[in-house]
Amino acid sequence: MRVVVVGSVNRDVVTEVAKLPAPGETVLALRSRTNLGGKGSNQAVAAAQAGGQVEFLARVGADADPGLWKSLLEYGVGLSGTREIPDTRTGTAYITVAGGENQIVVDSGANFHWESDLDDLGTENELLGTADVVVAQLEVPVRVVSWAATRARRFILNAAPAAPLPDELLRRCDPLVVNESELAAIGGTVPTTPEQAFEQARALCLSGVPSVVATLGAGGSVWARRESGYNSVTGAYQPAPAVDSVDSTGAGDAFVGALATALAEGASLGAAVTTATAAGALAVQAPGTHTSYPTRERIADARALVPEPSPLA
Ligand code: RIB
Repeated sequence: MRVVVVGSVNRDVVTEVAKLPAPGETVLALRSRTNLGGKGSNQAVAAAQAGGQVEFLARVGADADPGLWKSLLEYGVGLSGTREIPDTRTGTAYITVAGGENQIVVDSGANFHWESDLDDLGTENELLGTADVVVAQLEVPVRVVSWAATRARRFILNAAPAAPLPDELLRRCDPLVVNESELAAIGGTVPTTPEQAFEQARALCLSGVPSVVATLGAGGSVWARRESGYNSVTGAYQPAPAVDSVDSTGAGDAFVGALATALAEGASLGAAVTTATAAGALAVQAPGTHTSYPTRERIADARALVPEPSPLA
């Protein structure tokens, strides 16, 4: 099943600390490392690990490390729509990790240097038009995301990091995937219970978004879907299994990548969310991004440990 991911590639500069610094505070790192990341490349690898046939559309700088291409190809991610932009630098993310939590600041670099006329991009337009599912995030310009959405047969938007979005784009998201703060940025307040998250997701569906998945970290997720032809919304709360979190960096990307592959294979939204929950729970139990993403077999085994969902409507 064909998944096209449109998004960012970053060099992740990661420092592990005992506790996240407060504003104005200096702390010493316990250790540091550099690895490949970016929500786009993370979701491409996660979708490929989950069994999808993945193509990745991205922009990298002239400084791109050849190891970048090699590692993505080793995961089976196709790169015919990834191009090097002269006179730019590859995006860099500065990540601080303490226990299971993290803080991230992204210097976008080449991720924001897309061609002015996207309609002229033959390879990319063909890949978008023939994919079962197209996935994007917001570490590339919104105009690039909108271009991908208009060409997709089914479009998934992980609205991270939060940004103002045109209604026309929201109406193409099936689903729109958001965490608590991203949901609040689009739909109102930060939800404190699954029921509140569902009410906000439901309101978004009634305003024209085809479906919404709201992730609640260790608290699981809720999904909501507008029934076609009816002014009604169905949905459920999907609890997450209790696990020891080592590093939550990119766990949301593991969730979205696995969700995309499951939807491309024809799973219902509820079944795809259960599969994605298993993938996210496995990803937080290992450090890093790509290296922490589970294979299809591991996801299938872990799915049996995911608690049953409860209907919310
Ligand atoms: O979602 C995690 C990712 O966010 C990191 O890999 C970092 O590059 C930032 O884009």
